Amino acid sequence: MKRYHHLFLLLLFATNCSQYILLLLASPETQSQRDFHTLLKLKASLLGPTLSTLPNWDPAADSPAHCSFSGVTCDHQSRVISLNLTALPLRGVLPPEIALLDHLVNLTISQTNISGNLPAEISRLASLKLLNISRNNFTGAFPVIYPGGFPSLEVLDTYNNYLTGLLPANLSTLPKLWYLHLGGNFFSGEIPESYSEISGLEYLGLNGNALSGHIPDSLGKLSKLKEMYLGYYNSFEGGIPTEFGSLTSLVRLDMGGCNITGPIPVTLGQLKNFNILFLQMNHLTGPIPATLGLLLYLEALDFSSNELTGEIPATFSQMKQLKLFHLFNNHLQGNVPQFIGELPYLEILQIWENNFTGELPESLGSNRRLIKLDVATNNLTGLVPPNLCASGQLEVLVLMENGFFGPIPENLGRCNSLCHVRMGKNFLNGTVPPGLFNLSRADMLELNDNFLSGKLPPIINGDRLETLSLSNNQITGRIPPSMGNLLALLTLSFDQNRLSGSIPSDIGKLNHLSKLNLSGNSLSGEIPSELGGCGSMSLIDLSRNNLTGVIPDEIASLKILSTLNLSRNHISGEIPKEFTQMTSLTTLDLSFNNLYGEVPRQGQFLVFNENSFAGNPGLCGTPSHNASCVARAGANANSGERDPLCGASAKPFFLCMGSFIGILIILS
Ligand SMILES: *[C@@H]1O[C@H](CO)[C@@H](O)[C@H](O)[C@H]1NC(C)=O
Ligand SMILES: *[C@@H]1O[C@H](CO)[C@@H](O)[C@H](O)[C@H]1NC(C)=O
Ligand SMILES: *[C@@H]1O[C@H](CO)[C@@H](O)[C@H](O)[C@H]1NC(C)=O
Ligand SMILES: *[C@@H]1O[C@H](CO)[C@@H](O)[C@H](O)[C@H]1NC(C)=O
Ligand SMILES: *[C@@H]1O[C@H](CO)[C@@H](O)[C@H](O)[C@H]1NC(C)=O
Ligand SMILES: *[C@@H]1O[C@H](CO)[C@@H](O)[C@H](O)[C@H]1NC(C)=O
Ligand SMILES: *[C@@H]1O[C@H](CO)[C@@H](O)[C@H](O)[C@H]1NC(C)=O
Ligand SMILES: *[C@@H]1O[C@H](CO)[C@@H](O)[C@H](O)[C@H]1NC(C)=O
Ligand SMILES: *[C@@H]1O[C@H](CO)[C@@H](O)[C@H](O)[C@H]1NC(C)=O
Ligand SMILES: *[C@@H]1O[C@H](CO)[C@@H](O)[C@H](O)[C@H]1NC(C)=O
Ligand SMILES: *[C@@H]1O[C@H](CO)[C@@H](O)[C@H](O)[C@H]1NC(C)=O
Ligand SMILES: *[C@@H]1O[C@H](CO)[C@@H](O)[C@H](O)[C@H]1NC(C)=O
Repeated sequence: MKRYHHLFLLLLFATNCSQYILLLLASPETQSQRDFHTLLKLKASLLGPTLSTLPNWDPAADSPAHCSFSGVTCDHQSRVISLNLTALPLRGVLPPEIALLDHLVNLTISQTNISGNLPAEISRLASLKLLNISRNNFTGAFPVIYPGGFPSLEVLDTYNNYLTGLLPANLSTLPKLWYLHLGGNFFSGEIPESYSEISGLEYLGLNGNALSGHIPDSLGKLSKLKEMYLGYYNSFEGGIPTEFGSLTSLVRLDMGGCNITGPIPVTLGQLKNFNILFLQMNHLTGPIPATLGLLLYLEALDFSSNELTGEIPATFSQMKQLKLFHLFNNHLQGNVPQFIGELPYLEILQIWENNFTGELPESLGSNRRLIKLDVATNNLTGLVPPNLCASGQLEVLVLMENGFFGPIPENLGRCNSLCHVRMGKNFLNGTVPPGLFNLSRADMLELNDNFLSGKLPPIINGDRLETLSLSNNQITGRIPPSMGNLLALLTLSFDQNRLSGSIPSDIGKLNHLSKLNLSGNSLSGEIPSELGGCGSMSLIDLSRNNLTGVIPDEIASLKILSTLNLSRNHISGEIPKEFTQMTSLTTLDLSFNNLYGEVPRQGQFLVFNENSFAGNPGLCGTPSHNASCVARAGANANSGERDPLCGASAKPFFLCMGSFIGILIILS
């Protein structure tokens, strides 16, 4: 106790509060008075954006006033034993006087804007068990702990501040510490070897710092450790210590994204209580140890984005609790074993970007739990398993870039939970289940590059659909006017199919539509002038169809259109003069149509070369077209009503020559 009185005297010099004289008297009442004044000092230091910070810390309240302050808990002697300032609009700094609250057991200051250093005096709080300063703006180094400091500290949480320097070194002297979270700061340097001496430690959070060096093997001595978080922003050398196999109490280990190399230690299979094992985004190599199949209680395993090789071990069939299974972005191969389909709780399976071969288990999804399935970019084959949406909650279904064949299961059209459907680049055939075009939650439906046939359903709906791609299939029939329902649509790709009929004018309702590709079909009729209403359009490709009529002037009102491809149709008429004002247009292809008249040579048209206009015998005004304009002058005479400049007579011919010479002058 003497030590602490000494501290108070020191503090008297630091403050000008005459009230502190009282503390020399040792009665409980005066001690409680001291707590009162300390809290007022605290209030004055924690300036908020307004003066009304901590408004109900009212010194005029009935005595003991401070015990009615919000966030304050007193014992029967009106001493403050707990202070909790969470999610309050506080700024300012924490004053060293906080150490005067010498009966404090719990101190939580969380989710405020308090900044500055953590005062070193705080380690003098002899009763303090819980120190939680998470989610504030504290800066500087963690203070030096006074010899014998924090004698009662059990829980230290500094998560998400701006603390710098080395990790606090003397924590092994804290006899009762079991919870240590230093994550989300800017601590650098190595993990102190001495942390392996904090023998009661159950929780160790060092994630999200700037730590480096080797992870000490000796951490394997922390036999009570249940949770360990070392990943993210840290960048260690070397690998996972095999000694971690001795952490027999470990339930959760997260070492994601911290540059670790080498193999996954076989010894991790000894950690029978494992519930969560995250090793993703590292440089781990070698096979997945078969011993991990002994982790019978594992619910989440993430080994994604490493350099792992080999197959999914057969022993994994025992991990019946698995909910989340991430192996994506590795070099794994072999089959997706049958037992994966039988895991009773599996919700999320992501194994994309590997070299898996063979078929997906037919039973996949039959557990009625599946939420997310992504097997993209493997060499999988066979039929799409029929029960993927038996859960009624499948949200993500990504099968793209594999060798799946056969039909898309009809019941997927009734899977209203689907958000993301990507089955492009397979060998799927048959008709698309109509329900896939009526998914209320879906934002993406990609079925491109398959052999799908049949017609589009008359009813198309989807308030959230942003991407709809059927490119490169064998879809026939018309584009239904109900496309106009897809008000969130950004990308519409129906190119390279066998669609016929006209382009529905309802597409003009799609205000957000940015890319429209209908190229390579058999669409006929005119280009709807309503397309001019799609103000977000940046790309229109209607090439290689059977479109007729003229280019609607309204297209020129598309202010951010950068690509317009109308080539290889039967479009006639002149190029609208308004197009010269389309300053965002960088790619224009009007080739192989029946356009006629003069190619504008002003404004944006200075960007385009003659390839943009080739194969339009009636066009003139470019160097190479000028000649054909002359040669075909007679042929064009009949259709010349809208062709006043470059028709049959000699006068237009001279005008054409005139503009040609004009261009040469401009260019020279
Ligand atoms: C301190 O917090 C712990 C848990 O956070 C709680 O169990 C204990 O009752 C609190 N003690 C006081 C004195 O508020
Ligand atoms: C602190 O207060 C917040 C909200 O005011 C509450 O959610 C939290 O549980 C409290 N913490 C402790 C340790 O009492
Ligand atoms: C902290 O400050 C930021 C902006 O400076 C503000 O947006 C935030 O609401 C503040 N937090 C609290 C808990 O007052
Ligand atoms: C605290 O940090 C947050 C997040 O970086 C920042 O938005 C806020 O402005 C900071 N508050 C103060 C008072 O510096
Ligand atoms: C610290 O306080 C925050 C906010 O109240 C809470 O979310 C967090 O769980 C606390 N930490 C500990 C270790 O109790
Ligand atoms: C704390 O660590 C510092 C430097 O690492 C050392 O000088 C000091 O003696 C240590 N204090 C205690 C109490 O262990
Ligand atoms: C990542 O690990 C490798 C191999 O251990 C090491 O050479 C490299 O320095 C580490 N990178 C960083 C940023 O620490
Ligand atoms: C798949 O295997 C091929 C051939 O063995 C190899 O070139 C390719 O890199 C592998 N892909 C992955 C993702 O491992
Ligand atoms: C997977 O398919 C690709 C392309 O068909 C091929 O290059 C690769 O070698 C195949 N890999 C395996 C492991 O079969
Ligand atoms: C789909 O392809 C398979 C062969 O891969 C073929 O047997 C079947 O008839 C095709 N179905 C349709 C509807 O084209
Ligand atoms: C489209 O979905 C809605 C709601 O999910 C449903 O009520 C409606 O019957 C469906 N329409 C068609 C044509 O499938
Ligand atoms: C265009 O229509 C004609 C007949 O009207 C047909 O012969 C031709 O195949 C069609 N071309 C395309 C690309 O659909």
